[in-house]
Amino acid sequence: MTKILVTYDMFREGFNELVEKYDVTFPDEKGFSYEQVLEMIPEYDVLCSMFDFPVNKELMDRAEKLKLVANYAVGYDNIDIPYAIEKGITVANTPDQVTAPTANLALALMLDAARRVTECDRRLRIEGKNMKIGVLENLGVGVTGQTLGIVGMGRIGQALAKRANACGMEVLYHNRRQLDLEAETRFKVEYVSFEELLERSDFVSLNAPYTKETYHLIGENELRKMKSTAVLINTARGPLIDEYALIKALKEGTIRAAGLDVFEFGDYPSPELLDLDNVVITPHIGTQTMQTRIEMAKAVCDNVIGFFEDDRPVKRVTPLIKW
Ligand code: GLV
Repeated sequence: MTKILVTYDMFREGFNELVEKYDVTFPDEKGFSYEQVLEMIPEYDVLCSMFDFPVNKELMDRAEKLKLVANYAVGYDNIDIPYAIEKGITVANTPDQVTAPTANLALALMLDAARRVTECDRRLRIEGKNMKIGVLENLGVGVTGQTLGIVGMGRIGQALAKRANACGMEVLYHNRRQLDLEAETRFKVEYVSFEELLERSDFVSLNAPYTKETYHLIGENELRKMKSTAVLINTARGPLIDEYALIKALKEGTIRAAGLDVFEFGDYPSPELLDLDNVVITPHIGTQTMQTRIEMAKAVCDNVIGFFEDDRPVKRVTPLIKW
């Protein structure tokens, strides 16, 4: 019987169909460690991995029976794709279920950073009646009439453009390739160079995959090109931003604020970020709703079942063309 290894703990209702058809191994609530998976993998035909679980050469070399890696995420920077291809291992992801919740969180971070929602909430709780309030205090900036620059115009970038249109924003974008005219008209977006996007945008949102080319896409130089009133949003992957350069820029007022759902050095922000009022931070919750979690699990099942039974589409991943 086909053997499936799931590395992470997840609501089981998302996996019902898989369990009915195959021999599925789930971990306890801690999930399987890399070392445990390395030990177990030779037995398995399918690996269901989480976005931060490394599927590397070492693991694939031990995976004698492995035919499919079904990643629970849209991003797949945790997987050595060229090596998987070399080994004849198919890789699949879950793009559709991730789009709306991630775009919603990007918008939430934009509004929060612009209107200082979390900052005011925090200060009101901590300072109580000592917090200065009044019509000229705690001024934020609006989003209506402002310009949003979206870096990466895939599904999530496009979903964010729609939301920004609804808020009355102008939308610029930069992408590996320009959208066709019909799509640009539909999303009301203007294609510009990366540099022009940085210079013209009041808000910059990163919605690009993490690759060698997008590592530190935003560093000291790029931050200097941005408006001193600009707000930077990252719901993609932490290493797209040089976090130390961002901390310096936020401290020195090179840009106004940032909203971050991901961090350069793993799950947690650099401690210096915690001391800054002009940054809103969330712990990678882009898809963290119960409904999305279950939908993503079902998408993983569809990829596995579609792969073996050819009765539904498989969201196959291919190496990214150069950014
Ligand atoms: C989450 O980070 C994803 O890639 O889906």
